[in-house]
Amino acid sequence: MMSGIIGKKYPLVTRRLILWVLLTNFILVLYYWTNQTKVNIRDSKEDTCPLRMAKLSKRNVTSLGTKSRSKKCSPKVNIMFMKTHKTASSTVLNILFRFGEKHKLQFAFPDGRNDFFYPSPFLCSQVKDYTPGDCFNIVCNHMRFDPQEVAKLLPRDAVYITILRDPVDLFESSFHYYHRAVPLTWMISGQNKLAEFLNSPQTYYSPDAFNSFYLRNLLFFDFGFDNNVEADDPRVMRNIRNLLSQFDLVLLAEYFEESLILLKDKLCWSMEDILYFKLNARKTSSVSRLTPELRAKALRWNGADWKLYLHFNATFWARVEDYGKERMSQEVKELRRRNAEMKATCIEEGGAVEAQKIQDRRFLPWQPVGEASILGYNMKKNLDPNFRTICEKMLTPEIQYLSDLGVSLWLTRLWGWFKDAVLTI
Ligand SMILES: *[C@@H]1O[C@H](CO)[C@@H](O)[C@H](O)[C@H]1NC(C)=O
Ligand SMILES: *[C@@H]1O[C@H](CO)[C@@H](O)[C@H](O)[C@H]1NC(C)=O
Repeated sequence: MMSGIIGKKYPLVTRRLILWVLLTNFILVLYYWTNQTKVNIRDSKEDTCPLRMAKLSKRNVTSLGTKSRSKKCSPKVNIMFMKTHKTASSTVLNILFRFGEKHKLQFAFPDGRNDFFYPSPFLCSQVKDYTPGDCFNIVCNHMRFDPQEVAKLLPRDAVYITILRDPVDLFESSFHYYHRAVPLTWMISGQNKLAEFLNSPQTYYSPDAFNSFYLRNLLFFDFGFDNNVEADDPRVMRNIRNLLSQFDLVLLAEYFEESLILLKDKLCWSMEDILYFKLNARKTSSVSRLTPELRAKALRWNGADWKLYLHFNATFWARVEDYGKERMSQEVKELRRRNAEMKATCIEEGGAVEAQKIQDRRFLPWQPVGEASILGYNMKKNLDPNFRTICEKMLTPEIQYLSDLGVSLWLTRLWGWFKDAVLTI
């Protein structure tokens, strides 16, 4: 693509740069214009969600499994899911959407787009139709986390959940997905921009450059911290300790099934509630294989995220230990069996397909700038009518699901149009 037109490379880069500047200005103006009426943020006690929300239905669920077979609990309905980038979080989101919709829970949704004004820090006033004192059950869209602001929206008993992924793989994924949206990567030459970047990040990287956070310690950034700290900076451990106290459960993308079993246990949900199809996955041919040397460089470059990941890896396995290893492996087996059953019921061709092969636009996932590397599904045509609704919901990507739940996405759509029509020249 870009490297094909060697002589015209810089003019093309310049052209894109101008487009970017125009676009961002345009969008910023739109934002300020649309948010004008909502900027009366006050900071008093009366403005926070005052009451515990109504409990979910009357039924009490008996959870399965040996340890709590005799104990009863009622399903938790108040949830903060801190949706991190490139961590399988879209699949968790689909689970939350389905549960919330089924039980008619109140979501705190963004307005006009699918995230809370990311990368700006989260503010209550970014919530659709928010008035101070409003309470919600679930907050789950992308944001730059701010625990004080989030706490204003949710009852005190809300369960805080998030998901992490090995920072090296996360970096690779983020670089792939966002590099065209990060102008400082446009100057990187050669076929393998990722390797070139890792070999001398300081040459290319600048903390102040537009969208640069996608290229360094993205987890730290998402949690609202400084993503340009070095790993041995004392702030890193302080930040990690804060998260340890704020989050009730931290999932790991690498152990997604075990994570969901812990989630089910924590929330007192049923197996049916956590069934899933992997959403927003990338075709393997677009995943860069990193050499051990490059992996080591990526790890050092994302040192703060690496420390964060190691800490929560340790807490994760301690939890699995508490839960019972044998019980865990039984539950994972059962989850796999039920997922395979749903797959056979709902999905054509038995698995994910490339974007061009997706027949129904309802199931077409959002694609990164300049390519169609994100896989999706075709739903079976002659489907058992009893399963139609559940299959549809399990297969619906984030943007379409948000739309179905009544969120206006005009800015996201405008950006989508711009991305496909203008940036993909
Ligand atoms: C459900 O459990 C709670 C707490 O254990 C109890 O107070 C409540 O009465 C139970 N509800 C029903 C319908 O059994
Ligand atoms: C995570 O913890 C497990 C269990 O202690 C350990 O086997 C594994 O190596 C750890 N992962 C990393 C990346 O350190």
